[in-house]
Amino acid sequence: MGLFLDSAKIEEVRQAVEFGFLAGVTTNPTIMAKAKGEPKDIIRQICAIAPGPVFYQVTAKTVAEREREGREFFGISPEKVVLKIPATSENMALIARISGDIPCAATAVYSGHQTLVACEAGARYVIPYVNRATRLLGDGCKLVAEMAAVVRATGKQAEILAASIRSADEATQAVLAGANHLTLPMDILMSLGNHPLSDAAIEEFGRAG
Ligand code: G3P
Repeated sequence: MGLFLDSAKIEEVRQAVEFGFLAGVTTNPTIMAKAKGEPKDIIRQICAIAPGPVFYQVTAKTVAEREREGREFFGISPEKVVLKIPATSENMALIARISGDIPCAATAVYSGHQTLVACEAGARYVIPYVNRATRLLGDGCKLVAEMAAVVRATGKQAEILAASIRSADEATQAVLAGANHLTLPMDILMSLGNHPLSDAAIEEFGRAG
């Protein structure tokens, strides 16, 4: 189990690393666009401070260009960079071609069959968008459970990294449904340790003291 920060803002990454329980950092093109700076430089800086895997999503137009882009970003820090590759049949072939050399994550996975082929292609991670799946399909956690069952059925080592988590409760539900890891925006990551009743108990103990 690992808790990842979904951000490319260096200050947020620094702050989250200081918590001491962060496994690594995930990014996507939207997140990269919100951060200041050139993508390679951002990934280089995140790799320098993250304790573990740093996910970069390839964006180039053609599959050959995505492979070149992925290899370039992997070269920034081969110990840390994991390539996020959006789930399409063409990209599953890309994962199959490079997953022997480079850890790959099939991302934006919305079905058991995409999970199945990602596993067979050698993806180390499969990434469902939990909240989006709830909004678009009805039940994001049911998707996570289906994906977990498919991974088990393949007997492969792929791990489910649940993304698009919009609340602390949704984080719990994703784990209970079978997610191996979670990636969370900063506000949710920071909220995991809190509960209003804990605050009330602390206040009560404070009054007693
Ligand atoms: O990194 C992808 C995912 O976390 C996006 O989440 O909240 O935009 O659906 P969201």
